[in-house]
Amino acid sequence: MFLFLLTKLECLRLIFLLILVVISQFLQVVEIVSVIFVLGLLSLKAVECRNQHRRPELFQYPAINCRKHSALLTDFGGKGDGKTSNTAAFRSAILRLSQFASDGGAQLIVPPGKWLTGSFNLTSHFTLYIQKDATLLASQDESEWPLIVPLPSYGRGRDAPGGRFSSLIFGTNLTDVVITGGNGTINGQGAYWWTKFKSNKLKSTRPYLIEIMYSDQVQISDLTLIDSPSWNVHPVYSRDVIIKGLTILAPTQSPNTDGINPDSCSNIRIEDNYIVSGDDCIAVKSGWDQYGIKFGMPTQHLSIRRLTCISPYSAAIALGSEMSGGIQDVRAEDITAINTESGVRIKTAPGRGAFVKDIYVKGVRMNTMKYVFWMSGAYGSHPDNGYDPKALPVIRNINYRDMVAQNVTIAGNLAGINGDPFTEICISNATIEMRKESKKLPWNCTDISGVTSRVSPQPCGLLPDQKPSSDCAFPNDRLAIDDVPLKICSGGSSYI
Ligand SMILES: *[C@@H]1O[C@H](CO)[C@@H](O)[C@H](O)[C@H]1NC(C)=O
Ligand SMILES: *[C@@H]1O[C@H](CO)[C@@H](O)[C@H](O)[C@H]1NC(C)=O
Ligand SMILES: *[C@@H]1O[C@H](CO)[C@@H](O)[C@H](O)[C@H]1NC(C)=O
Ligand SMILES: *[C@@H]1O[C@H](CO)[C@@H](O)[C@H](O)[C@H]1NC(C)=O
Ligand SMILES: *[C@@H]1O[C@H](CO)[C@@H](O)[C@H](O)[C@H]1NC(C)=O
Ligand SMILES: *[C@@H]1O[C@H](CO)[C@@H](O)[C@H](O)[C@H]1NC(C)=O
Repeated sequence: MFLFLLTKLECLRLIFLLILVVISQFLQVVEIVSVIFVLGLLSLKAVECRNQHRRPELFQYPAINCRKHSALLTDFGGKGDGKTSNTAAFRSAILRLSQFASDGGAQLIVPPGKWLTGSFNLTSHFTLYIQKDATLLASQDESEWPLIVPLPSYGRGRDAPGGRFSSLIFGTNLTDVVITGGNGTINGQGAYWWTKFKSNKLKSTRPYLIEIMYSDQVQISDLTLIDSPSWNVHPVYSRDVIIKGLTILAPTQSPNTDGINPDSCSNIRIEDNYIVSGDDCIAVKSGWDQYGIKFGMPTQHLSIRRLTCISPYSAAIALGSEMSGGIQDVRAEDITAINTESGVRIKTAPGRGAFVKDIYVKGVRMNTMKYVFWMSGAYGSHPDNGYDPKALPVIRNINYRDMVAQNVTIAGNLAGINGDPFTEICISNATIEMRKESKKLPWNCTDISGVTSRVSPQPCGLLPDQKPSSDCAFPNDRLAIDDVPLKICSGGSSYI
C-alpha cells in the first residue's frame, strides 16, 4: 500500500516522505505533528520549485474514446521556449505512454508554450491533446525529419522521385488514435520548404503536418494548423476517420498546401472545418496511375459537411487528380466557397484508370469563382513514363443540386475524354449570377452527357433541361461513421 502510494507521488513529495520516515524514527509521536506542519509549509515551496510541471486545470473535450492515464510533455523534459528541440521529449513520452495501450490508454498533454519539434510517431489507444495557447513549431532542421519510403499507391514522392520526409505527426498501423486540443496550434513554419520547392532544391518530398497510414478509428479535431510545408492532413489506407473543427491557414500563394486529403480511405466524416489555402481545401485521392491501379484501394463512403473554403487558385473540393484506386460514394453538403477558382472539381487523365462515381453534392453557396462546375479529363501529370495511356477512367453518376453562386466568370467548363465521355451528370436548382464584365460563354461542354433542371444561365446542349423537372439524387441513408458518437472526456487528472 505504501509503495503503491509512492509510485503515484511526485519526485519532491517522495523525498519529503522519506525524510518524514527517517525523522520519525528519532521523534516522539507528539512531535511528528509539528514536523508534518513544517513539511506542509515546505511543500508549498515544492509546488513552486516544480512550477514547470504545473498541472493544468481540469478540462473537457469530445472524443471517440477517453483515456485512463495522462502525462504532460514537461514530464519528459519538454521545454516550451520556442528554441529548444522537443523531438526527444515527444518520442520518449509516446514510447512510455504506449505501455498503457491495453490498460485504458493514455493522453499526452501539450501545455501552453511554444514547442519546437521534428517529426514523431503516434501509438494506439492514444490521444495527443494540444491545449489552448500551446503551439507546436515544426523544426526547419532537416535532420529532425526521418526519410520514409514512397507510398506504394504513388510509386514515388510527389515532389521528387524517391523518399519523402516523414510528416510532423505520423502514425502507421494504429487503432484508436486522437489528435485534438482546445484549438491549440500546429505551425509548420513552411516558408523554408516552399522556397526550396520553388527553387527546385528538394531531393525528397516535403513533409505533411499530419499523416495517418494503415489505421482505423482516427480522430483529428479542434486544432489550428498554420503554414504547412505541403499538404496539411493526410489520412491514407485508413478507415473510420473523423476530421472535425479544424482551422487550416496558409498563404493563398503557397505551393501544394492542400487542407485535408483523404486518400484510399473508407468511412470518413469531415465536418465543421474552415480552410484558407494555396491549393484545394479538400482533395479526395486514391493513388497515381499504374501504382494506384495496382494497389487498388478506393476512397469511398465519405461525407463532407459544413466546410468553408477560401482558395483563389484551387477548388473547394477536388476529386483527383490521383484517383487510380477509384473514388465512390462521396456526399458533400452545406459548403461555402468564397473566392475559390472552382466549386467541386473532377481532375483526371488517360492513364489514371479506375473511376469517380456516385458523387452527391447539395447546398453550396459560392461567391467570386472562375468556374462553378469544372471537370478536367486531360489533367496530365504522370509519375513516370510507365503509365498505360489506354487505362481510361470511368466518370459517371455525378449529382449537384441546390447551389447559388455570385460573381462567376464561367458557369461550367466540363471536359470529358475523347472516346471516354463522362456520363450521368445531373445538375438541378442552381442559380448562377455571372460577373457583369464576363464576355466568356457561360458553359463549354465536350465529351460529357447528362441532364439539368432549373439551372440558370441555360446550360450547354449536352446537358438538356429535363421535363418534368426533378431534383438530382442525394442519398437518404447515413454512413456508419455519421453515427459514431463523441464522448465527453476529461483531461488534467490521473497523471502517471
Ligand atoms: C516512425 O515510423 C516509421 C514507419 O514505421 C519509421 O520509418 C520511422 O523511423 C519512425 N520514426 C521515428 C522517429 O521513430
Ligand atoms: C502495416 O500494415 C500494412 C497493411 O496491412 C502491412 O503491409 C505492413 O507490413 C504493416 N506495417 C507494420 C510496420 O506493421
Ligand atoms: C481557433 O484559432 C484560430 C486562429 O487563431 C481562430 O481564427 C479561430 O477562430 C479559433 N477557433 C475557435 C473555435 O476558437
Ligand atoms: C468579382 O470577381 C472579381 C474577380 O473575378 C473580383 O476582382 C471582384 O472583386 C469580385 N467582386 C465582388 C463584388 O466580389
Ligand atoms: C434551391 O436551392 C436553394 C439554395 O441552396 C435552396 O435554398 C432551396 O431550398 C432549393 N429549392 C428547392 C425547391 O429545393
Ligand atoms: C471549350 O473546351 C474545349 C475542350 O476543353 C477547348 O478546346 C475549347 O477551346 C473551349 N472553347 C471555348 C470557347 O472556350
